[in-house]
Amino acid sequence: MEALTTTAILNGLRTHTLGRQVAYYQTTASTNAVAKALAAQGAVEGTLVIADEQTAGRGRLDRRWLAPPGTSLLFSLLFRPQLAVARASALTMICGLGVRQAIRELTALPAQLKWPNDIMVRGRKGGGILTEVSSSAERLDWAVVGIGLNVNLPVAALPAEFRATSLQQELGRSTSRVKLLQLILLHIEQHYLKLQAGQWPSHEWASALETLGQRVRLHTAEGAVEGLAEAVDDEGGLALRLDDGQLLKVWAGDLVALTSSEAAAGEEKGPGPPTR
Ligand code: BTN
Repeated sequence: MEALTTTAILNGLRTHTLGRQVAYYQTTASTNAVAKALAAQGAVEGTLVIADEQTAGRGRLDRRWLAPPGTSLLFSLLFRPQLAVARASALTMICGLGVRQAIRELTALPAQLKWPNDIMVRGRKGGGILTEVSSSAERLDWAVVGIGLNVNLPVAALPAEFRATSLQQELGRSTSRVKLLQLILLHIEQHYLKLQAGQWPSHEWASALETLGQRVRLHTAEGAVEGLAEAVDDEGGLALRLDDGQLLKVWAGDLVALTSSEAAAGEEKGPGPPTR
């Protein structure tokens, strides 16, 4: 197994800021937890916290993030942008775009994104992003963006209901985690520079979202609704056109693209109350 050491990460890294300070752990509870503690202690922008294994890796909606040791990229990046807290989702967007671009460039796999924060390969989840922020008076003090990516992971190691995949599963061979990480950091940094120059990422992000323009089912804590995933706004909110014509704006939930027969059945129903 290729070693994911600080020296290996820095050797050939082409960024100016991201990943220039590295905190590597063979095992830690959660790289996001470490990065948040470092942020509170004044760590510099671009600090990378990375681990070969997490004992309490966390996903969105308080879920666990599972990854056998040494198989994945499990890391968190510290940003200190001049942004209103309501606009922190731009960081999730640029990180998703950077990961997608790096996977495509290194492996030629058709990586895509799925609202709100999934990294998809051939219709299955291959990674996810968890952004956590600290703010005062509506301004961001810092944001930690945690990224988990199934690289050389045998999917049989994960529960089947996760419907997960990995780069290894899709390629039939392993991928260098160091090279992939270096490329991810480079692409995220390029997007971050554009963001700092005032170029908002939502349009590019929208064009990388695989479920946009499709009929979908959205699962939330309150239940499920079906509709057309019509658009995303600058803050990353999803506009869902319900079957009764209402436009529902949502910021969280799990999105499932409906199969063509499910979608056709929904359209035949015509306007009516949303399914809950
Ligand atoms: C999701 O899809 O729910 C987001 C998953 C984010 C997982 C990563 S792994 C590195 C970082 N540390 C964590 O505890 N979580 C994120």
